[in-house]
Amino acid sequence: MTGKKIIIIGASSGIGRALAAVFAAGGYMVGITGRREALLREIAAGRPASYHTAAFDVTDTATSIAHLQTLAAAMGGVDTIVISAGSGDTNAALDFGIEQRMIDLNVRAFTQLADWAFNYFKGRGDGHLAAITSVAGMRGSRQAPGYSASKAYQINYLQGLRQKARSEQLDVVVTDICPGFVDTPMAKSPTRFWVAPVGKAALQIYRGLLKRRSVVYVTRRWRGVAWLYRWLPGWVHRRL
Ligand SMILES: NC(=O)c1ccc[n+]([C@@H]2O[C@H](COP(=O)([O-])OP(=O)(O)OC[C@H]3O[C@@H](n4cnc5c(N)ncnc54)[C@H](OP(=O)(O)O)[C@@H]3O)[C@@H](O)[C@H]2O)c1
Repeated sequence: MTGKKIIIIGASSGIGRALAAVFAAGGYMVGITGRREALLREIAAGRPASYHTAAFDVTDTATSIAHLQTLAAAMGGVDTIVISAGSGDTNAALDFGIEQRMIDLNVRAFTQLADWAFNYFKGRGDGHLAAITSVAGMRGSRQAPGYSASKAYQINYLQGLRQKARSEQLDVVVTDICPGFVDTPMAKSPTRFWVAPVGKAALQIYRGLLKRRSVVYVTRRWRGVAWLYRWLPGWVHRRL
C-alpha cells in the first residue's frame, strides 16, 4: 500500500464488499465497483464520505477501462487496486457455457484489468495491484476444471507481473490473495472445510496488503494446504 485511496473491483458482495468496509473504516477513500448498482449505492449510503461507486460489467472489455479511468479520476488518483470480481462453478457435465462464462471473467476480463492497473501504476511511478485467486488454482480439479485452471492462470499472471515490476525496477507491488474457503454464496464446492467468516477473511487480507506481501493466504493455515496440494505426487492427485 502506498497511500489511502483504493479501488476494489467486485465489491458489491462477498469478499470485496467486506474488504471495502475494512478499508473505509481504516480511513481510506474506497472506489467500489460491480454490476449491481443498487448494492453499491446501499454500501456508499452507509458512509458517504468514504465511497465512490461505478457500476459496470468488467467482461464488457470495450467499455470497462473507461469506467475505471473515470472512477480513478473522480477519486483524484488511486494507490491500490484489488481485483475481487471473479466467479466459480463446479461443472461435472463439462458444459462449455459454464466454462466460457468463467474464462470470460476470470481470464479475459482479469487480464485486461490487471494490465490496466499495472500500466497505470507504472505511469505514475508507484502503486499496489492485488487480485483474489484461490488455493483451487494450485492443481486441476475434476469438480471444477475451468475454475481451477482459471485461478492457476491468475496466479501465474500475477507472478509474471511481479517479475516484470522487479526487472523494470518499478515501485509496483503485486499481491496474490489466495483464499481457501470463505463464507460467501460463491463457495460451492461439495467438500468445504475451514470455511472462514467473510469479515475475518477481509481483516487478514487488509493486514497482508498493508504489509505489501507477495502472497496472502486466507486464512493463514491454508498456506500449508496450498503447499501440500501443489507438491502432491501426480498419482495421489489423480485419485482424489
Ligand atoms: N468465497 C470463496 O470461498 C472463495 C475462495 C477462493 C477464492 N475466491 C475468489 O474471491 C473472489 C470474490 O469472490 P466472492 O466469494 O466474494 O464472490 P461474490 O460474492 O460472488 O463476489 C463477486 C463480486 O464480483 C462482482 N462481479 C462478478 N461478475 C462481474 C462482472 N461481470 N462485472 C463486474 N463485476 C462482477 C460481483 O458484483 P456484481 O454481481 O454486482 O457484478 C461481486 O461484487 C473471486 O475471484 C473468487 O474466485 C472466493
